[in-house]
Amino acid sequence: MRKLIAGMKVSLDGKVEAAEGMADWVAAWSEDYGLTPQIDACLLGAGMYPGYEQYWTAIQQEPDKPHWITGKAPTPAELEWARFVAKTPHYVLSSKLTKANWPNTSFVRRIEEIEALKRQPGKDIYLVGGARTTPSLIDAGLVDELRLIVYPLIVGPGKALFATTERRRPLELRKVQQLPGGMLSLTYGIG
Ligand SMILES: NC(=O)c1ccc[n+]([C@@H]2O[C@H](COP(=O)([O-])OP(=O)(O)OC[C@H]3O[C@@H](n4cnc5c(N)ncnc54)[C@H](OP(=O)(O)O)[C@@H]3O)[C@@H](O)[C@H]2O)c1
Repeated sequence: MRKLIAGMKVSLDGKVEAAEGMADWVAAWSEDYGLTPQIDACLLGAGMYPGYEQYWTAIQQEPDKPHWITGKAPTPAELEWARFVAKTPHYVLSSKLTKANWPNTSFVRRIEEIEALKRQPGKDIYLVGGARTTPSLIDAGLVDELRLIVYPLIVGPGKALFATTERRRPLELRKVQQLPGGMLSLTYGIG
């Protein structure tokens, strides 16, 4: 069975978004948590998909120009992720969205369909986010591994990753790595 692996960037107080609705402490969204070689599909919530599609489409179409969001030219890691997403199927968990511009994107209408997706042959699936989708799929017992990057920052008001989680769940710490800039990379197996 394919694993569903979530990656999230959190502050030390567990926030994935500041009060303004953005994780403005994250410098680059190309971080793949070392997953690219082992995945061949991405799953996202409807809240973040349109912005994600727009962001990476801009880099695919104008790789040499400053990005309109960051004001900077894409980094080599961003160019690599833009190429990867162009050829990789994306699944969007949504009851309302009906249209995506990427030909490889399809919609998942109920979380039960994710179980079927995991049973299909293939590599692992990367759960990209967002703030509501990742904890709700962990709560539903569908996520096999959680990779966190913990930033050396207390955000204060914002959206906590596990604010709405209802079920206690044991985790198995599998890997700890100190990253440049005081960040920590943590990999947990989810029981
Ligand atoms: N810190 C990080 O690493 C990180 C990573 C990614 C994103 N983010 C943040 O996440 C934010 C987007 O998150 P979000 O909470 O607004 O939206 P989201 O989690 O991307 O999507 C939520 C939407 O997914 C659909 N959905 C269907 N079934 C669901 C279920 N069981 N559980 C949850 N969602 C379900 C619903 O859309 P329908 O109404 O269409 O059914 C729901 O409104 C962005 O602003 C971004 O900053 C942070």
